[in-house]
Amino acid sequence: MQTEIQKIDEGSLVTAKKILYDGGLVAFPTETVYGLGANAFDSSAVKKIYEVKGRPQDNPLIVHVHKDYDLDRIVCDIPQYAAKLAEKFLPGPLTLVLKSRQTVSPVVSCGLETVGVRMPSHEGAQRFLKYADLPVAAPSANISKHVSPVTAEHVYADFNGKIPLILDGGKSSGGIESTVLDCTGAVPCVLRSGLITREMIAEVAGDCTTFVPKDGEKVRSPGMKYKHYSPNCRTMLFDYANAFRALEEYNGQRSAGVKAFIMCDDDCRRNFFGCVPESDVLMLGKTADEIASNLYFKLREGEKTADLIIAVAPKEQDGIMVGVMNRLTKACGS
Ligand code: TXA
Ligand code: MG
Repeated sequence: MQTEIQKIDEGSLVTAKKILYDGGLVAFPTETVYGLGANAFDSSAVKKIYEVKGRPQDNPLIVHVHKDYDLDRIVCDIPQYAAKLAEKFLPGPLTLVLKSRQTVSPVVSCGLETVGVRMPSHEGAQRFLKYADLPVAAPSANISKHVSPVTAEHVYADFNGKIPLILDGGKSSGGIESTVLDCTGAVPCVLRSGLITREMIAEVAGDCTTFVPKDGEKVRSPGMKYKHYSPNCRTMLFDYANAFRALEEYNGQRSAGVKAFIMCDDDCRRNFFGCVPESDVLMLGKTADEIASNLYFKLREGEKTADLIIAVAPKEQDGIMVGVMNRLTKACGS
């Protein structure tokens, strides 16, 4: 199969819609990461997502809709706090897990009673979803366990020859996946951290908890139990307080002929000036927004040439950094 990358315009939208209605897959941009979409009503199309990604069969997908879509067509029993959150944050990087009306294919939610709904704010995503006029089931458009894609080229690297079309909407600005929020209980509960933080949610909803699986307890967001986001090279992760050990490691590895790179934020980089050449640094940036936005991009850039990425965690770990640390630990931690 030939894989085309096309800018989002009238012509590519016609093609994308046809592919979806014919049961095929279309990759599309969002403000977080690129998605790999199928018609959410079509079970055999949704199954194709699991096949091409190599995704475990018990990890549910989220459904993407345009901003004027009536969520009541997909979900029911929407609590008042969830309606308030939707009003405040959607379209945007927040996925609401709600009771399913069982109108979309059961394959989407792996037979669960709930379904995750997401209304992306990316203009190209909105155009695509509006034009297709369908709810689109989509995970991140990467081979399972690989780093999530934030450009059309990243999607191409994973799926060339396996899907017909990638809609190119430029680099995703957010850089990490949406916050997944369980809205089926009395109080919302963060299942996966992201750019909409627990604090931001609590401010609107009155309260918000974070799900922490206890030993032996069933993981509520099945995706959280799998290894994830890993680049195709060796990785190491050091705390900010142990940055000097990262430097020792880098020096040792380079002396042994290993192509080692340091991945760190601007703050840490300043401590390494004179010790690590610019060409060996995968720079994450200064602010939390920048670091989130650059994380997957830099992991993808690094894996092209590095034998080893030595990551140093940023010092600040609150707010958006909770989500960043979650991804960084899974990508580079042991
Ligand atoms: O930003 C995003 O959310 C991106 C873009 C493409 O929209 N999508 C994305 O999808 O990250 P995926 O499949 O890679 O991650 C979806 C996460 C998984 O951890 C999955 O287990 C969880 O959401 N999830 C989906 N439906 C769920 C449900 N009904 N109950 C609990 N967790 C659910
Ligand atoms: Mg994913």
